[in-house]
Amino acid sequence: MSRTRIFSGVKPTGHLTLGNYLGAVRRWAEQDQHRADAVFCVVDLHALTVAHDPARVRRLSRQAATVLLAAGLDPERCTLFVQSHVDEHTRLSYLLECTATDGEMRRMIQYKEKSARERAGDGGSGSVRLSLLTYPALMAADILAYGTDEVPVGDDQAQHVELTRDLARRFNERYGHVFTVPRATRPPVAARVMDLQDPTSKMGKSHARSAGIVYLLDEPDTVRRKIMRAVTDGGSEVRYDREAQPGVANLLDILSAATGCTQRPEELAGEFGSYGALKKDTAEAVVELLRPLRERHAALSSETAYVEGVLRAGAERARAMARPRVDAAYRAIGLLPPE
Ligand code: TYM
Repeated sequence: MSRTRIFSGVKPTGHLTLGNYLGAVRRWAEQDQHRADAVFCVVDLHALTVAHDPARVRRLSRQAATVLLAAGLDPERCTLFVQSHVDEHTRLSYLLECTATDGEMRRMIQYKEKSARERAGDGGSGSVRLSLLTYPALMAADILAYGTDEVPVGDDQAQHVELTRDLARRFNERYGHVFTVPRATRPPVAARVMDLQDPTSKMGKSHARSAGIVYLLDEPDTVRRKIMRAVTDGGSEVRYDREAQPGVANLLDILSAATGCTQRPEELAGEFGSYGALKKDTAEAVVELLRPLRERHAALSSETAYVEGVLRAGAERARAMARPRVDAAYRAIGLLPPE
């Protein structure tokens, strides 16, 4: 039997956050690359779906790759590359646009939320790029090009992976079996880390206000300050209730995840007599969790040639993996082979 294939990615639209780490990246490093044939991608093309600054996207792409290595991705164990270095993604994306429907794309929650934000000009440009609508077809191409079995992601990407499954099945039924039908995997806790200042919305790296967002490269004192100032709820009892006490529940999720999920957030709640004590322990746990990553990042950030080498070799391997399946999809859908 062939090994399980895992694919996942991160979009360089901002600095990576604690949400990215607990929802996805940590599992890639600690589990996925050790147990499967794992492919990880800095999905730079996806960063062009909203108003962007070219120099910033370039900088953030390089930084994301460096942070992923600092988080423990090992180029000897997994394939790490930049999406735009492998043409198969955009080649396949078009075929999937021809498989998906307009209605399916418009139903995507992220499209609805982000297009509303862009239209309102709230940090956006006042207009919506067509690529924001077609984005899930490119994401499906990212996944399907590699014969992926599992996609380790946070909760916010579950709907996109569900659509990917539908597209894979539909393509296979219409044109013959080309694609593996993948499934999303999620972490046991902290699959949706919330903003510390607004615990009813997701901690997102591209949000304008940073007080509620812990970035992976924040200084320890900044991490402490942000967590100590987290918005908590009315009352003073520490209970795990996501509806009634979203701020406290978020801290309990973070603490549980940061301490290796040895205790569920519900159990942890009973150990704290005050919000202050919960915040203090959570802050220290996060500082400790991120310490090795920060240290490795400091060492790696001057090793630009090393990082570039990893990405070059990764793109070569990724191309060789994706090419045959994308070629097969071109033939299956009715396109004449070039020779
Ligand atoms: P992105 O860059 O927004 O996020 C990268 C990963 O981090 C997870 N995540 C979170 N998990 C928990 N709590 C949060 N607050 C939080 N914020 C982000 C995301 O679920 C994701 O797993 N569309 C994707 C990138 C992508 C991709 C792919 C992923 C493109 N092609 C193919 C998997 C497979 C995205 O925007 O992720």
